[in-house]
Amino acid sequence: MRTIAEFEAAARERLDPAHYDYFAGGAQDEITLAENESAFRKLRLLPRVLRGSDKRDLSVELLGTSSSMPILIAPTAFHRLAHADGELATARAAARAGTIMVVSMAATTAIEDVAAAAREVAPDPGLWFQLYLQPDLEFTEAIVRRAEAAGVKAFVVTVDSPVLGRRERDDRNDFHDLPPGFAVENLRNIGENRSGGNASHVRDIVMSAGLNWDHIAWLRGKTKLPVLIKGVLHAEDARLAVHHGIAGIFVSNHGGRQLDTAPATIDVLPGIATAVGGAIPVLVDGGIRRGTDVVKALALGADAVAVGRPIVWGLAAGGREGVTQVLELLREDFDQALALCGGRHPADLTPDQVRR
Ligand SMILES: Cc1cc2nc3c(=O)[nH]c(=O)nc-3n(C[C@H](O)[C@H](O)[C@H](O)COP(=O)(O)O)c2cc1C
Repeated sequence: MRTIAEFEAAARERLDPAHYDYFAGGAQDEITLAENESAFRKLRLLPRVLRGSDKRDLSVELLGTSSSMPILIAPTAFHRLAHADGELATARAAARAGTIMVVSMAATTAIEDVAAAAREVAPDPGLWFQLYLQPDLEFTEAIVRRAEAAGVKAFVVTVDSPVLGRRERDDRNDFHDLPPGFAVENLRNIGENRSGGNASHVRDIVMSAGLNWDHIAWLRGKTKLPVLIKGVLHAEDARLAVHHGIAGIFVSNHGGRQLDTAPATIDVLPGIATAVGGAIPVLVDGGIRRGTDVVKALALGADAVAVGRPIVWGLAAGGREGVTQVLELLREDFDQALALCGGRHPADLTPDQVRR
């Protein structure tokens, strides 16, 4: 398969239609979902020439974690619904590719097992852990300790979900709970037997609309690892993130699954990059399907990008091998686009190379 669209078609054939809709869908009219991709298509790339762009080096270093390319795996929930090997397959493929996997707190595999699978492939895998801060801070702290003990290298706190977005495909399919035999393993109550546990002992993720900067400060006080926030769209919030000592931000609208009619991430990225002024890394996700999309995001100020659905499509289409193929497809596509733009390294791309 040569494109992400082909992987999506293959995944769709294999998946239960309700699960396909869960992975593919967005909030309400799916305006933001569609625009994340269409906004990239509206941008034009202006190549530079004669810059000696052989021997390209795609690697980046982000907050102490190195990555073989500036294309990361965004946190997505429920990988075992896509493929029986679930997050274990994704983690092995990420480790093989040498890229960073942001493991969802809503994974259907425990973080300890995900980390062990990644370590089978690479001695020092780049795993970050996505957190929804739970109102029960003691329980949240226990999850933080588990993730730290498993060896994650950063925490990514998702801040765009004070309440859950209204996903009408899921309503139509009556898909609101994991099927029997699946659970959000990172929320299994501490002290319970993981292997023999009963799904009813796994807590539900609570979206908490009461979150504020004090909670982020609380988390920073509980861990020495870098704390990033994910779901920033307003330049003022990016400025506040720097002010509050946040290690990095993800410009994200949650893949169009939370606030519908929020802008495409690539459209707000330049303003946020200006507001941050290089003080902390800026990552962006949403609608990245081609190497040229990666080039546009980097040129407009991102230090790296992350992809959500493409990874799920690779996983559903072919397990670990499918995720590997998606990652290598994106790597080659990006490398070629970088060369065509006259760059040798991700940092060579500049905003003047993108035109509306
Ligand atoms: C099926 C699915 C599940 C997701 N689960 C999470 C999650 O558990 N935590 C989170 O922070 N973001 C989650 N996201 C959002 C992704 O991290 C990311 O922001 C988004 O998928 C990027 O857009 P893309 O799918 O167009 O690449 C999810 C997205 C999808 C599609």
